[in-house]
Amino acid sequence: MKTQVAIVGAGPSGLLLGALLHQHGIANVIVEQRSAEYVLGRIRAGVLEQITVDLLAEAGADARMRAEGLPHDGFEMCFGGQRHRVDLFGLTGKRVMVYGQTEVTHDLMDQRAAQAQPTVYEAQDVSVHDFDGKRPRVRYQKDGVAHEIECDFIAGCDGFHGVCRASVPRSAIQTFEKVYSFGWLGVLADVPPVAHELIYASHERGFALCSMRSKTRSRYYVQCALDDDVNAWSDEAFWAELKSRLPADTARHLVTGPSIEKSIAPLRSFVTEPMRFGRLFLAGDAAHIVPPTGAKGLNLAASDVALLSRGLAEHYRGHDEGIDRYSQRALARIWKAERFSWWFTTLMHHFPENGEFGAKMQRAELDYLFSSRAAQTAVAENYVGLAL
Ligand code: APR
Ligand code: PHB
Repeated sequence: MKTQVAIVGAGPSGLLLGALLHQHGIANVIVEQRSAEYVLGRIRAGVLEQITVDLLAEAGADARMRAEGLPHDGFEMCFGGQRHRVDLFGLTGKRVMVYGQTEVTHDLMDQRAAQAQPTVYEAQDVSVHDFDGKRPRVRYQKDGVAHEIECDFIAGCDGFHGVCRASVPRSAIQTFEKVYSFGWLGVLADVPPVAHELIYASHERGFALCSMRSKTRSRYYVQCALDDDVNAWSDEAFWAELKSRLPADTARHLVTGPSIEKSIAPLRSFVTEPMRFGRLFLAGDAAHIVPPTGAKGLNLAASDVALLSRGLAEHYRGHDEGIDRYSQRALARIWKAERFSWWFTTLMHHFPENGEFGAKMQRAELDYLFSSRAAQTAVAENYVGLAL
């Protein structure tokens, strides 16, 4: 098989890249090791920056998001038993859209199927070759038969554990990493959200987050130990822990119910430099990870593929500046989002290793934040998303 761009991975990065390339008339094939159902079964964050909303529109996959997504003008931060609002719209003139990553993925998959764009699911032994030369190849096995895709470029959209980053010679790549000493225990439940905006709570028992997927489906998280066993957390224990970290009045209004999903995720900050190796480009989680505080993961994936699709479109019109500067441009935005996610994580979580002094610093910073419009503006600017 021959194509212009072979995309490895059908997560949000690969699917959005495929949709944007299609808009530019660039042929592409996606090779994904899992089934579509498996990909859709992964629950992740659900806050879209305006840039991501605009990209979904550019890709022509925004109809359901416009109908069902919840535009939010602000969010709350809670500490010392009080709730404080960050007025995103008042401070920046911008909003965010609450719409789950699962739904974004679903919409892009449906659109790709409707356009009959080639996608290979359940591909085994995917490998990438010759990206340092002119004719890269992607090989895989499907139902016991070996296949090869010959292409102009490979897009490594295969997530943190993918094969693309791992195929780059060690001497050509540098990685930067911080692993946090706790995880997030998340619960999805068909109960109305406790508030109409998100609440990020800092508490001495640990961080908590009240989020949502719709007016009838909530997503809640509590900071937990990395070695906690998710099966040892009953629904009752989860709701009790969440309530203990919220102000009494908020906890009283919390509607509980059976969980429909429950999982523990570790927190990590990770960046790969560069993001281009000859004719192989990395995008999304294949190149970088942020801790979920601030919901930047999907938004960074979207801005990477926006830059990449524009660069590739320019290449096919005879100009290589876009692909030559892809890595540098993407990384400039990524490091700022890494900084914000790390800062927000550090501010809101319980770090026993930082002792009483660390806790006092967090409290002083939170007090300062809600006494300073300038400080709130800095938070709001980052939360709604920095310029691409
Ligand atoms: N061959 C083919 N596909 C692979 C391989 C491989 N060797 N390894 C991984 N994949 C697939 C995975 O099965 C997955 O479907 O690549 C896809 C990568 O998807 P994601 O992990 O969702 O990464 P990405 O598309 O970059 O999305 C970033 O997802 O993790 C969140 O917070 C993150 O919201 C952000 C978004
Ligand atoms: C979520 O809804 O899952 C979510 C929202 C905001 C975050 C992280 C996760 O910062």
